[in-house]
Amino acid sequence: MAPRKLAAGNWKMNGTLASLAEIDRLLADHPAPGCDVLICPPATLVHAMAARAQGRIATGGQDCHARTSGAHTGDIAAAQLKDAGASHVILGHSERRTDHAETDAQVAAKAVAAHQAGLVAVICVGETEAQRDAGQTLDVISAQLAGSVPDGATAANTVIAYEPVWAIGTGRTPTNDQIAEVHALMRDRLAARFADGADFALLYGGSVKPGNAAEIFAIPHVNGALVGGASLKAEDFGPIIAALSAA
Ligand code: PGA
Repeated sequence: MAPRKLAAGNWKMNGTLASLAEIDRLLADHPAPGCDVLICPPATLVHAMAARAQGRIATGGQDCHARTSGAHTGDIAAAQLKDAGASHVILGHSERRTDHAETDAQVAAKAVAAHQAGLVAVICVGETEAQRDAGQTLDVISAQLAGSVPDGATAANTVIAYEPVWAIGTGRTPTNDQIAEVHALMRDRLAARFADGADFALLYGGSVKPGNAAEIFAIPHVNGALVGGASLKAEDFGPIIAALSAA
């Protein structure tokens, strides 16, 4: 099995019910994309989006709790996301790691919870600009992969997204060689640890736009993208889906 191609959108804390018109536009403009398409809206929209997308676009959460239920005000269990119609959940996004001080161990525990609930975990890793400048990128990615991806991960239940922190929302991207270097490292690490490590989908994320998508998708071991700002509007996300379909 080759890695599946995945165009994933992360709406972050953006969007209301009116925003679901973008789903209608994507479905109309891309009735049969040549890749999987996932959108992770705010939790308030998961149920309505899943109903609207009719399985043609997958719906995901942006975080889940490691426990199945209990006294955790404001948190959401993986099984609740699944119940609302989600099939995926983003875990360990750098904004969660920064805003909520999430550690690799917490991300791994959340991934276990996601797997137990039947969700695909989209686990994010990425270096800060200071770490890249200090020549630590490959060590940071290796450590995050080792710590954030649980032993039960498989190509069917886990997707890895490489998102350099300094490229998120900045309009800056690594060079193609820099992306290639990290993706090759991730492939090697996963293949060394998991029987089906060659088959995990590896996404690049950080300032992916219609104008740079095709070039990024041509890089070895890049199987798709995790897209923030450019996933909010069908007119931007549509061309990214088309570029991945053609890759
Ligand atoms: P961006 O965000 O595409 O707006 O840079 C990517 C992400 O944070 O997933």
